[in-house]
Amino acid sequence: MGESKRDKSLGIKTTGLREWKDRRDQYNRYEATPYKALDRLFKYHKLSKDDKVVDFGCGKGRVSFYIHNRFQIPVTGIEANPITYEEALDNKRTYILKANHISAPINFQYGLAEHYQIDYDDSCFYFFNPFSVEIFKKVVTNILFSVADSKRTIHLILFYPLPEFKRYLEQHTPFEMINKIKMPLTSDKYNKFLVYRLQEDI
Ligand SMILES: C[S@@+](CC[C@H](N)C(=O)[O-])C[C@H]1O[C@@H](n2cnc3c(N)ncnc32)[C@H](O)[C@@H]1O
Repeated sequence: MGESKRDKSLGIKTTGLREWKDRRDQYNRYEATPYKALDRLFKYHKLSKDDKVVDFGCGKGRVSFYIHNRFQIPVTGIEANPITYEEALDNKRTYILKANHISAPINFQYGLAEHYQIDYDDSCFYFFNPFSVEIFKKVVTNILFSVADSKRTIHLILFYPLPEFKRYLEQHTPFEMINKIKMPLTSDKYNKFLVYRLQEDI
């Protein structure tokens, strides 16, 4: 099934690209994670019913809707582009007509990922190349402060991880890589997911 058909089955519209007019050096364009990639990620990495997911730079919300629909867990999407954010809200209106049997909340917040106040039960953080590594460091620092205040096991999922992101996590943070999920039939070495875990001390 193509991307538009998958969208249609969720009652959403998430295809296309949107470039930033300014801030291009720090903030990356909108482009959704392919459904085939999400299918592959969650074949090998399962979310638990107790997880609460944050998609940093959620765009029109594809990953948020996909996870909410498949795992029926709370999801929050953060988006800094006002037009894209409005499209995520439009999608939510049409999505809930199809998903009103799911009681877990799905929410979108307009704003910068680096300003998002991490919730003490947020446990899984998704990044598809939303911004520069400098901003990524700020977001990860916020996550680490939150875990220091409220101990818990958390995961980071990176799609299309560029070397500087991987280097930062592995050399400057306590996260350990627990899974590498490559896309089949591609010669693009970045076309993969990396899953990192920070385990609560027992
Ligand atoms: C590559 S898209 C990923 C969309 C979605 N996560 C997915 O995988 O389908 C990155 C998104 O991050 C947004 N973005 C860029 N910088 C941001 C920031 N500082 N805070 C929040 N969103 C940001 C962009 O506007 C864009 O919609």
